[in-house]
Amino acid sequence: MTHHRSTWRNRWTFMLATAGSAIGLGNIWKLPYMIGVNGGSAFVLVFIACILIVGIPLMMTEILLGRRAQKNPFNGIEALAIEAKASPYWKLLGGMGMLTGLLILSFYSVIGGWVLYFITEAIKGSFVDIKAAESTANFNDLLASPLTLLFWHTVFMCLTMGVVARGVNSGLEKANNILIPALFFILLILLGYSMSVGDMQAAYHFMFSLDFSKITPVAVLSALGHAFFSLSLGMGSVMVYGSYLQRHVSIARTTIYIALADTMLGLLVGLAIYALVFANNLAPNAGPGLIFQTLPIAFGNMPWGSLIATLFFMLVAFAAWTSAISLVEPTVAWIVENTKISRKVSAVALGLAVWLLGITVVLSFNDWQHVKIVFGLNIFETLDKLTSTILLPLGGLLMALFAGYFMKRDHVQDELNLDNRGFKLWRITNNYISPIAIIAVFLYLFGLVK
Ligand code: TRP
Repeated sequence: MTHHRSTWRNRWTFMLATAGSAIGLGNIWKLPYMIGVNGGSAFVLVFIACILIVGIPLMMTEILLGRRAQKNPFNGIEALAIEAKASPYWKLLGGMGMLTGLLILSFYSVIGGWVLYFITEAIKGSFVDIKAAESTANFNDLLASPLTLLFWHTVFMCLTMGVVARGVNSGLEKANNILIPALFFILLILLGYSMSVGDMQAAYHFMFSLDFSKITPVAVLSALGHAFFSLSLGMGSVMVYGSYLQRHVSIARTTIYIALADTMLGLLVGLAIYALVFANNLAPNAGPGLIFQTLPIAFGNMPWGSLIATLFFMLVAFAAWTSAISLVEPTVAWIVENTKISRKVSAVALGLAVWLLGITVVLSFNDWQHVKIVFGLNIFETLDKLTSTILLPLGGLLMALFAGYFMKRDHVQDELNLDNRGFKLWRITNNYISPIAIIAVFLYLFGLVK
């Protein structure tokens, strides 16, 4: 069956779409609280190292797999395996990625819902002159209300599937053009405010002091997982976007820009948040509610606060939206390219399935808070840890091994189109350094090394 496959209009739109996938709740919501939960600078340093050593080469790998295959991850990896005379069962790697994306989306959508709710709160002016204790109480009230969470989770899912149903380059990429730079801009305003009233020195010290003694195995594990999450790696989002990329575009350069923008953005949010956390004597290890408890205090007390807060949460919602789309796109592409089912119907059906799973996530913040799945983790925590620390790194590891040891070197080089030195560097990181790093972390995770 041949389908007309759309391509990005130019390199810039691919870059914005992939940056749109990478930049999302991972940077604005997750990274800040992970830094706090994992002891600050120890985590930040390992995270940056993981982005550089594992993330960047692997993003190149994922794009090259997608562009060479010109198909959804499942059939794409199958086709590449056949081309390389390897087992066609490599396609299961694509299948695992699709499943991972849907699992992530089930909680991503719930958190996206929090952001939507915060837009309405900002518009209502609920943050004006708010104090730390009130802000924390407001957030806890939200978590305690399953119906409110369910409502916003539903809205977020509908928004996501609405775009997926129309196809990825239906105009969203044009919005990306303005909105990602706008997000950076508003963050700078926030950062400026945090610098003037917050404790930037404490924040800086907390995030960047070189103290290797604080690095724990758990911090390393979480940092590696978050490097994957933040760059959208290991499940096929980037691969499927790469499959729509024209042949003449440089993969390496594009990757480096995206990884830099993504990492910088996350760290800037972190600084802005922790300056406020320390100035207001809040707990850095508050967990998933961190930004929703601290940011209202900043917005509530700055001039034009309600307006800026509204814009901020709208931009975050937009960033989350463009990421969420990339979590389902591999599966929708797979269905459309293999069956007679239309894009619309597959989007609705998948949306429904993910929405249902999301309901259990909603409940895990209130009525089912004490329902533990494994290792004392509730449903949200289980889905988060399972995807970030196991499935994404495993997917990434297999992709690296596939590109490094199964595909023909010429084919890889053909896509990457690097000079000798660049290619060697990619090869060393892709074939040795990142697999070894990921395997070492897994060995620790499964208790095989202490
Ligand atoms: N990277 C996005 C974020 O930081 C989330 C995301 C989108 C993602 N697609 C992904 C994470 C694929 C892992 C894999 O918010």
